[in-house]
Amino acid sequence: MNRPRSTPVPLDDSDLRRSALAALGESEPGAKIAAVEALHDRYRAGRAVCLPEVSLEEPPGLPGRPAKPELVEPRSLRHRGMQTEAGRAVLLHAIAHIEFNAINLALDAIWRFAGMPDAFYADWLRVAAEEARHFGLLQARLLEFGHCYGDFPAHDGLWDMCARTRDDVLARIALVPRTLEARGLDASPPIRARLVQAGDEASAAILDVILRDEIGHVRIGNHWFRYLCDQRGLEPHATYARLSETYRAPRLRGPFNFDARREAGFDEVELAALAAHDPSAAL
Ligand SMILES: [Fe+2]
Ligand SMILES: [Fe+2]
Repeated sequence: MNRPRSTPVPLDDSDLRRSALAALGESEPGAKIAAVEALHDRYRAGRAVCLPEVSLEEPPGLPGRPAKPELVEPRSLRHRGMQTEAGRAVLLHAIAHIEFNAINLALDAIWRFAGMPDAFYADWLRVAAEEARHFGLLQARLLEFGHCYGDFPAHDGLWDMCARTRDDVLARIALVPRTLEARGLDASPPIRARLVQAGDEASAAILDVILRDEIGHVRIGNHWFRYLCDQRGLEPHATYARLSETYRAPRLRGPFNFDARREAGFDEVELAALAAHDPSAAL
């Protein structure tokens, strides 16, 4: 529901975008997840409204995150085998960190970018709620291994791309959901296979839930990327290439999960361009 511009912005929790900003500022994972779930429930029950035209000012200290994990250079992170529980705990922790960042990325899209249709904000709220669920599943599994989020170092690559694209919703959508989240679609099957090989069906089942939802997130990214290209009179393929270059997007490397990417709304031209980078590809 849109309100006219002259309506005062409510200071209570009935404003979807302001509440998303508050949740983004929460440091403790439990508090952040509770804030996202409560907001998702309020919005679906019609007890929170969307005010797309309101520009909100960025407070200091975003995103809220706990003192641990320690953030380090990606190169300094050690990879361990998955045959041991300790090795799998490191892997699950790395994925939990991605999910924690993904909650923040979805919340950031809601509060930061004014002037989009209501459906844009509703989509990213759903994504935030699903990312919170993914984080919760991984955190519970980590606890079964005697660990919790924060026990191992992590890197900050996801939020870094979020920060670089803070000024342009088109760049954000091109490079976060359509590039970084889409890479998760490719990464999932080989990791899942190694977990199954190690006999860890419980962790593999969590990856199944995540992959199914992530296809939806990338699909949302593709939808809004095309919407914005349409609105600005831009050709999507050339625009994506230009944005990848401008914002130094990570180079995509195969093997690619073509089925998941197709389901997520990449078109045949885009899939063929990926296949050209992957000699083993069968479209
Ligand atoms: Fe996720
Ligand atoms: Fe996601």
